[in-house]
Amino acid sequence: MLTIAIDGPAAAGKGTLSRKIAETYGFYHLDTGLTYRATAKALVDAGLPLDDEAVAAEAARRVELAGLDRTVLSRHEIGEAASKIAVMPAVRRALVEAQRAFAKRAPGTVLDGRDIGTVVCPDAAVKLYVTASAEVRARRRYDEIIAGGGVADYDGVLADVITRDQRDMGRADSPLKPADDAHLLDTSEMSIEAAFSAARAIIDAALGR
Ligand code: DC
Repeated sequence: MLTIAIDGPAAAGKGTLSRKIAETYGFYHLDTGLTYRATAKALVDAGLPLDDEAVAAEAARRVELAGLDRTVLSRHEIGEAASKIAVMPAVRRALVEAQRAFAKRAPGTVLDGRDIGTVVCPDAAVKLYVTASAEVRARRRYDEIIAGGGVADYDGVLADVITRDQRDMGRADSPLKPADDAHLLDTSEMSIEAAFSAARAIIDAALGR
């Protein structure tokens, strides 16, 4: 089955890009970050600890891909909690199994996350590594919060982005890094439209379209 793997750090614009790509090619889309977020939320809601691997893995096995709700799971605290349980190998094993099953859907799939091109779908037809400078990502996240009527301070958001990067890139199991055969897409100086055109050109060339 045809799979497009999209990886990159938090707030690089992978989500929007992946949804647009899936829509354009008529493929199913899975934001794998939501699977880690749903696991973390289940633990928090049940008052369970975030540092017990066996308990967290059990919560991961219960996650239903069909029920993932981006609005509910997008909260900052859930992202922080997700990043903590994402270091646990047993949690990753459970979620990767579900993600691989999803990747087999016809006619094709777009999966975005941190380890799609390296671990989940190493045979993906196309791999993109979408990134942007920490400052640009923090600015986008900050603008999003303000536009949504929230309160934030830019320096705090930047500090969070940097901490999240260190956790995602520094963990022993499936750290965030570009696959050897990934196409790098730095969106620091690009609008979402420009990033989408660039991604489309890469995908069309790779698929021979
Ligand atoms: O992309 P996101 O912010 O929704 O991801 C939340 C956390 O989940 C992130 O800090 C790291 C983890 N994650 C992961 O380890 N592997 C993935 N494929 C996707 C997300």
